[in-house]
Amino acid sequence: MADKAQGLAGVVVADTTLSRVDGVNGELIYRGYDILDLGVKAWFEEVVYLLWYGKLPNQTELDALKAELAEMRAMPQVVADMLKTLPHNAHPMAVLRTAVSALGTVDENADELTRENLLRQSKSLTAVIPTIVAAWERIRTGKEPIAPREGGSIAGNFLYMLNGEDPDEAAEAAMDAYLVCLADHGFNASTFSARVTFATISDMYSAITSGIGTLKGDAHGRANQRAMEQFVEAYESGDVEKWYKAHRAAGNRIMGIGHRVYKATDPRGKVLGPLAKKMSASSSESHWFGVAETIENLAAQDDYFVERNLYPNVDYYSSIVLYMIGLPIDQFTCAFAMSRVSGWTAHILEQFENNRLIRPTAAYVGETELAWVELDNRD
Ligand SMILES: CC(C)(COP(=O)(O)OP(=O)(O)OC[C@H]1O[C@@H](n2cnc3c(N)ncnc32)[C@H](O)[C@@H]1OP(=O)(O)O)[C@@H](O)C(=O)NCCC(=O)NCCS
Repeated sequence: MADKAQGLAGVVVADTTLSRVDGVNGELIYRGYDILDLGVKAWFEEVVYLLWYGKLPNQTELDALKAELAEMRAMPQVVADMLKTLPHNAHPMAVLRTAVSALGTVDENADELTRENLLRQSKSLTAVIPTIVAAWERIRTGKEPIAPREGGSIAGNFLYMLNGEDPDEAAEAAMDAYLVCLADHGFNASTFSARVTFATISDMYSAITSGIGTLKGDAHGRANQRAMEQFVEAYESGDVEKWYKAHRAAGNRIMGIGHRVYKATDPRGKVLGPLAKKMSASSSESHWFGVAETIENLAAQDDYFVERNLYPNVDYYSSIVLYMIGLPIDQFTCAFAMSRVSGWTAHILEQFENNRLIRPTAAYVGETELAWVELDNRD
């Protein structure tokens, strides 16, 4: 029985109206809208509104949300000061996790559990996380953080704070498409852990801190970093096919391939794959897309991957998109968090509506009825 639920695979733990992941047909919808539409047509702010309010915004509603988010972009001074004290070699996700936890200490209403307050915190976190990520990149490279601008999109503002100059339209649009595609994904591990934390009647900051800690793992969000690192390793080996054979012979996984739910092509890859190809083609580093495509093709001809229905997941080609945008490789998972915070917070709002402690049981398979042994008498 325990084996059946190993890793909670296939276990339905709640109803949700936020997103549906159809692993057999390779489809994803956010509140009824297909990711293939949203990924190329929607701005991230429209998706955020959709997740929090349950409908696409009209122009007035969108403008109002963008204005609210813009006002909440600045970091509290305590967090800005704290960032400067952290070791420069810390992983950006560890820094983000620490900073979000610290945000909870400055919010005087951190523990107020009303929809209104939780929505305010959702907006505040979605607005400030890009500021934290960009500031850390500058701090660890010896530069002064750049204050957020009042206007513009989340994607554009993030790139501005990162580089100190206006991004070109293509980079902003690519960043935005990335944020749209990663916003929500059913009961993925980080969303689940955020909901578990919140369901104990904890608070928004604790839940998002849990989510960030869970996203940081290689099997989840950090696969985008690992995927790009593997492309670099394969390219630098000088022979991608030889690298693939040696990598597989050593029993290593191909990062960015495989998924707990999708047994078909990840639909988000249908948006981000062509984008990666287009960005590569117009870049001076056009070889990266080719490296990824070669490894995908080798896996597609490898019985091991075919028999197990293992296809590239969202992290595979999105890693090329983030690289082409100019993000340092170890910051990729923070970009994921910048997007997924919208889903995490929407799930917390949903959990709040009908909360019950999430507490499964385990089948105890250890020893029983052992006799107590005094300390001096133990082996
Ligand atoms: C995503 C992932 C963690 C899903 O895990 P899961 O649902 O628990 O599936 P499992 O780890 O049990 O894998 C099922 C089988 O496929 C194999 N497999 C899964 N992903 C693989 C990969 N990327 N490379 C090689 N083999 C893989 C496993 O070894 C296992 O084989 P087995 O049945 O012979 O033991 C897994 O596919 C993986 O590690 N992928 C690489 C990391 C990644 O891209 N993560 C991002 C996910 S969006």
